[in-house]
Amino acid sequence: MKKMTLLGDITPAQFLRDYWHKKPLLIRQALPGFQALLPRDDLFALAARDDVESRLITRAGGKWDLQSGPQTTLPDPARRDWTLLVQGVNLHDDAADALLRQFRFIPDVRLDDLMISYASDGGGVGPHFDSYDVFLLQAHGQRRWRISAQKDLSLVEGMPLKILAKFEAEEEFLLEPGDMLYLPPHYAHDGTAVGECMTYSIGFRAPAYQELGEAFLQFMADSIDLPGRYADPDLSPAKHPAEIGKPMLDAVAAELAKVRFTEDDIAIFLGEYMSEPKASVVFDTPGSMLQPGKFRQRVLKKGVKLSRKTSMLYAGKHLFINGESFAIGRADRKALLLLANERSLSGEDVAASSDDVQEALYTWYEDGWLLPG
Ligand code: SIN
Ligand code: CO
Repeated sequence: MKKMTLLGDITPAQFLRDYWHKKPLLIRQALPGFQALLPRDDLFALAARDDVESRLITRAGGKWDLQSGPQTTLPDPARRDWTLLVQGVNLHDDAADALLRQFRFIPDVRLDDLMISYASDGGGVGPHFDSYDVFLLQAHGQRRWRISAQKDLSLVEGMPLKILAKFEAEEEFLLEPGDMLYLPPHYAHDGTAVGECMTYSIGFRAPAYQELGEAFLQFMADSIDLPGRYADPDLSPAKHPAEIGKPMLDAVAAELAKVRFTEDDIAIFLGEYMSEPKASVVFDTPGSMLQPGKFRQRVLKKGVKLSRKTSMLYAGKHLFINGESFAIGRADRKALLLLANERSLSGEDVAASSDDVQEALYTWYEDGWLLPG
């Protein structure tokens, strides 16, 4: 059978049907001849920035230590048993962004980020489980993964990171650069560097319903409309002054029952919520801002592309970009959906788009959300 890239010899449809959320999959040479996209020192430099999330994990004896970034000093790579995790590398590096986007057979709303870990010999984050699916792509050196479908996911208490109390490996694999291991949520795993190594985690996001519910109520708080004020023209003298009487309870219940939400409210809420940039994200605005006329000339020739940091989603008539929502007009639909799906528009696409779209493109350019192609 012809070897396909990324998932080995199975298609995305087969992968989703047989493995996704269900069972692990080891893909030898998912990316044949793969080499680390950025050298160790570039990763260390990213970890020193304050707009980059990172964690340094060291182990000495049975004790684990965790330090959140920015990392001003790191241990000597010659020292054993430490690891540096750098989150969201795709936001800062084109090649990392392109790698993450190879996983777009899963919708953008579910894709989280590319995390890169560097580990010195023996380093790792210990046996644990994650709440999300993950693809673990070996990028440099070797890592030994031990995994287990165990149901006992109890944790060691009092540790700064999640460490399984009773980890019993069922399978073990040594990954080489280009090999990739998929793990479903809650699958126990422990990866140990064999010599220094780098591993890329393609991570997903799945919001907890409680978190969504709380955020939805906040969202609705801005849009509910309950005119009037409680009144009691027929009040009779209080026998028990401390009691809240039934007439008041009933009147308030009747008014609150008027709070309604529609499918549109839900779509707008979800789109704004899921496209909201993470707190650490800072958009880079253009160094020398083109005036609207010059911008138009430029993009009619070169097109536009979304910033790596931009999240653009849509649902029905609603477009979402970086936490904001817009109603999609009929004439704008083609260009906006193309931009969201391709993350770029050619000069011809821009030329064919409406004045409204071209105006929006300029505003988003000013915000650093997109740039001339
Ligand atoms: C790592 O790359 O060391 C951690 C990845 C993980 O186990 O989730
Ligand atoms: Co993990």
